[in-house]
Amino acid sequence: MRDLLVKCKRYGKFLCQFAVEKMRGLDFTLPAASEEIQNSREYNGYCKTPEKHMALILQSLRVPYAESSFLDIGCGKGAVLREASKVPFRRVAGIELDGELTEIARRNMKKLGLERVECIQGNAVTFERYGEFNVFFLFNPFSSAVLSQVLEKILQTLEDSPREIYIIYHHPVHHHLLDVPGLHRESVLYDRLKNYETYIYTNRT
Ligand SMILES: C[S@@+](CC[C@H](N)C(=O)[O-])C[C@H]1O[C@@H](n2cnc3c(N)ncnc32)[C@H](O)[C@@H]1O
Repeated sequence: MRDLLVKCKRYGKFLCQFAVEKMRGLDFTLPAASEEIQNSREYNGYCKTPEKHMALILQSLRVPYAESSFLDIGCGKGAVLREASKVPFRRVAGIELDGELTEIARRNMKKLGLERVECIQGNAVTFERYGEFNVFFLFNPFSSAVLSQVLEKILQTLEDSPREIYIIYHHPVHHHLLDVPGLHRESVLYDRLKNYETYIYTNRT
């Protein structure tokens, strides 16, 4: 009975958010996945990180915001980018594989007057600009094979531009891949709405 009540509450909240967004010409809440993603075992489709949980993550980050650049890897419709724009990061950007989702993210940012947020369309595996960022966010976007390639690319950038980095891994299905020398888990947060954990890793000593 309790489970049913929780589900009804969650669904009610989802419908309210969807309706409010529709009225404002926004689109963050509806889950989506392109055919390519639906048919792939490598990539996961879009659903957003709840705003409250993202706010908690951002509050708990101990980073010098003004000197930090935030990248959402697999940004979908841009819900996390909107939240990250509420704190004074030097820069906020997202990369998204799906062209349609990237367009929706761009429209959302424009509608909210967040033109300084960059929504890049591309594959995280072939992305060559990780060195420009130091705070990385991932909401379980892909398989372990893809994640290990992306992590390798991020860690490689430390050779050319040594810096403090943070990797925020929401719903950390393949977290064992982050147990590498030089990185440690600094904190664990819990999203009560979806029952997901978030692990925050850093190379800060
Ligand atoms: C679970 S959603 C997370 C959306 C957003 N980060 C959030 O938390 O609200 C994962 C997103 O990753 C994208 N994605 C999957 N594989 C990707 C890849 N190789 N490169 C870029 N984006 C990818 C999917 O299209 C999807 O939009």
